[in-house]
Amino acid sequence: MDGEASTSAPANATEQPDANDQVITPWDVKGGADGRIDYDKLRRDFGCAEVDDELVRRIERLTGVPAHPFLKRKVFYAHRDLSPLLDAYEKGEPFYLYTGRGPSSENLHLGHLIPFQFTAWLQRAFRVPLVIQITDDEKALWRSLKLEEARRLARENIKDIIACGFDPEMTFIFSDIDHMGAGGSEGSAFYCNCLRIMSMVNCNHVRSIFGLTASDNIGKIMFPAIQAAPAFSDSFPHMFGAKKGIRCLVPCAIDQDPYFRMTRDVAQRMGHKKVSLLESRFFPALQGENGKMSASDPTSAIFVTDTAAQIKNKINRYAFSGGGETVEEHRAIGANLDVDVPWKYLNFFMEDDMRLREIGREYGAGRMLTGEVKKELIGVLQKMVAAQQARRAKVDDAEVARFTTVRPMPDLFAGARARAAELAAMSSVLFYSHQPPTNGIPWF
Ligand code: TRP
Repeated sequence: MDGEASTSAPANATEQPDANDQVITPWDVKGGADGRIDYDKLRRDFGCAEVDDELVRRIERLTGVPAHPFLKRKVFYAHRDLSPLLDAYEKGEPFYLYTGRGPSSENLHLGHLIPFQFTAWLQRAFRVPLVIQITDDEKALWRSLKLEEARRLARENIKDIIACGFDPEMTFIFSDIDHMGAGGSEGSAFYCNCLRIMSMVNCNHVRSIFGLTASDNIGKIMFPAIQAAPAFSDSFPHMFGAKKGIRCLVPCAIDQDPYFRMTRDVAQRMGHKKVSLLESRFFPALQGENGKMSASDPTSAIFVTDTAAQIKNKINRYAFSGGGETVEEHRAIGANLDVDVPWKYLNFFMEDDMRLREIGREYGAGRMLTGEVKKELIGVLQKMVAAQQARRAKVDDAEVARFTTVRPMPDLFAGARARAAELAAMSSVLFYSHQPPTNGIPWF
């Protein structure tokens, strides 16, 4: 299905990588010889299918809304098993969404917002429920964060995530540390699923998928089971009852793919369907694709806490330009859009397709200067970050509790079922309207 390769290791996790090979794991993203990432190669190595125009059009038809720019522009460019999930949705068998974040820093940068903005759109467009896993345990194990610090970051990050605009009636956000033992009289369904998965995956399997060694701490060997568990609907009885086999779609950056290869490997034995995935490219650092966005280096990224003046300053000073060295040279040969960061950022965040195309044409031909393009970008980002900050300022403890409390969540699929009924009605209208004119003679 979807041209899937072996479920275990991508070539770069098991073979000794050449120093010039790109290496992408959930913990390390390193481009090839020129520092850049070959996204098509990565998709093929991982064995994912390509998001093509036809798929984007199908999503528009099913949801009845125009595709989000991240989809239209193939920021989310790779998938696994999206077609069977959409087939089922169309027939009135809905799915739920699952995404997450490892809280490694207090402030989110723009790259962190991408999966959440997109997931919020998917939730509204498909009218489906969502679980968001905050893996404070993961960051404690990998980054040697103190547990108390990991929990504190989780609480802070949850507020930023809520500010991306999820439906509180249909969204459950949980920290692994807080939720692991929760369950009351029926026991923790979530932890039980973690344990089931742990019992199904041996050390060799984890090692081959993630490249871990015997000297890694044992928590790292066990953790993938915890990231896998939310992809199985019976981990959340307050949302889905004990029902198995409800389909799940995970929007995530493509570096998370190894986790979900393992998740898919155990699905059948867990009595569930294989999780579907929609995977994105990475958001480049201000310094360009071979730079790294890091919370400890404020010049590497735009953060959701940056002021309008900081955004302006960072873009003007640090955003790598593909423009010519001098105005004369730029006018003569134009900008190299392949490496130009302001252009790349606009492709993520400028909504207006026509204006974006115009900028690409004019800048690429040298008629627009880097300074003018940066000015456009600054305007777009200042507006987006200010809106994010305004929503975040309204997220108080009560609002957090609305999303994080284990509570009965009834009718989670009512909206999606209604949409499927609409679709069924629409296709019959389409069918009849395509009949040839009868000229008064009944066509049947
Ligand atoms: N491992 C992810 C990170 O480090 C967090 C995460 C957990 C996640 N579950 C997920 C990300 C599901 C995407 C989808 O940020």
